[in-house]
Amino acid sequence: MTIPTDLLQRLTSLVGPAGLITAGSDLDPYAVDWRKLFPGRPACVVRPSSTEQVAGIVQICREAGVAIVPQGGNTGLAGGAVPDPSGTQVVLSLNRMAAIRNLDPVGLTIEAEAGCILKVAQDAAAAAGRLLPISLAAEGSATIGGVVAANAGGVNVLRYGMTRSLVLGLEVVLPDGTVANGLRRLRKDNAGYDWKQLFIGSEGTLGIVTAAVLRLLPRPKHTVTALLSVADPAAALRLLELAQDELGDQISAFELISATSMGLVAKHAGLKAPIAEGEWFLLIEAASSLAGLREAAETMLGTAFEQEIALDGVIAESGAQAAQLWALREHVTESEAREGKSVKHDVSVPLTDVPRFLVEAGEALAAGAPGTRVNAFGHLGDGNIHYNVLVGSDHDAAVVNRIVHDVVAAFGGSISAEHGIGQYRVGELARYRASTEMELARTIKRALDPDNRLNPGKVLLP
Ligand code: FAD
Ligand code: MLT
Ligand code: ZN
Repeated sequence: MTIPTDLLQRLTSLVGPAGLITAGSDLDPYAVDWRKLFPGRPACVVRPSSTEQVAGIVQICREAGVAIVPQGGNTGLAGGAVPDPSGTQVVLSLNRMAAIRNLDPVGLTIEAEAGCILKVAQDAAAAAGRLLPISLAAEGSATIGGVVAANAGGVNVLRYGMTRSLVLGLEVVLPDGTVANGLRRLRKDNAGYDWKQLFIGSEGTLGIVTAAVLRLLPRPKHTVTALLSVADPAAALRLLELAQDELGDQISAFELISATSMGLVAKHAGLKAPIAEGEWFLLIEAASSLAGLREAAETMLGTAFEQEIALDGVIAESGAQAAQLWALREHVTESEAREGKSVKHDVSVPLTDVPRFLVEAGEALAAGAPGTRVNAFGHLGDGNIHYNVLVGSDHDAAVVNRIVHDVVAAFGGSISAEHGIGQYRVGELARYRASTEMELARTIKRALDPDNRLNPGKVLLP
């Protein structure tokens, strides 16, 4: 199908030639997701440079009856940011709207445009001695708008919460082209419905985030990072309890890495853990501005050895060594991708059920999908495991999905802890969420986007 020329003319006159890509290989990076699972074909890519232009694009597309797919850094792992293969959907990329509009180090807020790269915002906060505690391996490409639209998690959730807990204000272009400006910097605001919550985690299906005000924190003066090995996930939970006792509310990350994950990182990234090999590893971080953090971490490690919870372990001696330990964790996803085909599951179960979940899911896979290998890792402190299954060409991804998600459901868990639904899990959500909850979601979607023009086919099927 060809794009109506008057649509292209109207978009060009709004954003200028530099703001529009209509053909050729320049379209390619916008057409397929990070994992290359969902190849699409955009009608065109439009790159506005202001909120007014975003509103204008939405109005033009609405009048032309054309669907819009919002896109940030395109690092999403659920196929939410790419168009379908029809060649009829317009990709609206926010990557030209990247300014940090304001940073208030005393009020502890940062206001950034949607296309601002997360790492740029983190660095701006750090330069002001403040902390933006959203941290994930894709932070060098993911954008503020994408992080908000996905309600991203990452490695610091157990201390600071999901992105939602850091959003104070939002500016959103609604599906009818109007701009809802809620860019308030208030800590307390109970004046009516907190409508911004609808857009956080809605994956571009309800509105286009154009800017956000995020909460900052004072930057902790001291950080300790430790890597330990344990025999099994039950021991990992005992270590978490010990860390809670010794480090209290200073724990900022508690990440699980399986021996399989470490093996993949060694094979594809050439990185090796500086401690004895084991079946399970934990990367623990604590941060505080008060003295005594390292001593508390050493006490924790000592007790962990004494009680035979930990098999081996190291506390980083420097920032550089801490970065080396983090690199092991941050290279898991990329190394898994290099290994070959995998079926990803981003699941959560009640924290104390994680060991039993891992055993039962493993048994169910061995019975129903023999020959698969599990690459389990993730945010143990949140009960969120990336239970990724490495498969061969004869394995059916849908069967593997069903096996794992049935076990998740039996534990009262979630089939998406942090990555969202996108198009990857749209069928699975409908299967596992109660019909009342699904209908409530459809009611919200219909109220805001009755013509289903904003990111259709993602999160919810009509
Ligand atoms: P995109 O991928 O461009 O978009 C994501 C979704 O948001 C899509 O549905 C899109 O339509 C929508 N969207 C994007 N921008 C807007 C906007 N301005 N307005 C409305 N809708 C919009 N995620 C985690 O939660 N935790 C992790 O630890 C984590 N680690 C990752 C590690 C790697 C190596 C990779 C590749 C990804 C990881 N992710 C993780 C997933 C991803 O980085 C996050 O979901 C991130 O928030 C996506 O940001 P983005 O700008 O790339 O969004
Ligand atoms: C991570 O925590 O590294 C990503 O969210 C995970 C993934 O690749 O599944
Ligand atoms: Zn994750």
